[in-house]
Amino acid sequence: MIIAIDGPAASGKSTAARSLAKRLGITFLDTGAMYRAVTLDVLRRDVDPTDAAACTAVAEAIEISFDVEGRILIGGAPGEPEVRSEAVNRRVSEVAAHSGVRRAMVAVQRRIGEQASAGASGDLRGVVAEGRDMTSVVFPDADLKVFLVASPRERARRRAEEEGHPERAAEYEADLARRDEYDSTREDSPLVEVEGALRLETDELTPEQVLQRLIEEVEALRG
Ligand code: CDP
Repeated sequence: MIIAIDGPAASGKSTAARSLAKRLGITFLDTGAMYRAVTLDVLRRDVDPTDAAACTAVAEAIEISFDVEGRILIGGAPGEPEVRSEAVNRRVSEVAAHSGVRRAMVAVQRRIGEQASAGASGDLRGVVAEGRDMTSVVFPDADLKVFLVASPRERARRRAEEEGHPERAAEYEADLARRDEYDSTREDSPLVEVEGALRLETDELTPEQVLQRLIEEVEALRG
């Protein structure tokens, strides 16, 4: 089973996808972490984030994998917390907009999706993949497609809280708005709400309620 979840920055995709994957006992795929890992590598190597060819070379060479909890590994070493740093936040959307970078990452994402879905056992197999183009480009035939949204203010509040800086919500709101604009207007694989996706507005929902809604959808699918 492939479950694809998209939505703007800090809309709660990771939390929802991670908890859903855990509940179903299937793979969790955080594709944002992959673009963050490429960006981290670009910055570490002093590559110019606007240089498409150089960023593509980094994306083609990087060795990305995930630990059992779904946390990103770069060359086998933990990518957290550096992949969430402000330096990465500032440049990730530019790096992720290069088609060559996307081509390299999408190939890895599809491979992970295939591996997670393969197998003949009666157990549920599959992946919960979250990002910006899971429903539109990477897994257009997903069994379940979800578009998670929350108001800019609520998303900034949550992200600031998550980072341990509740007083900096306004700054976070500006960063999220800038990335949303960039991610929605780029040429290759912009963030879009596809037809047929379940739209979930989460301002008034707790993470547990979001999970519950998603579980209901999966149960309806499985009959
Ligand atoms: O967690 P947050 O919403 O802040 O961001 P993320 O999901 O970690 O994604 C970071 C950035 O990676 C996004 O702002 C996009 O520029 C890019 N991204 C993308 O282009 N395609 C994806 N499938 C996932 C992320």
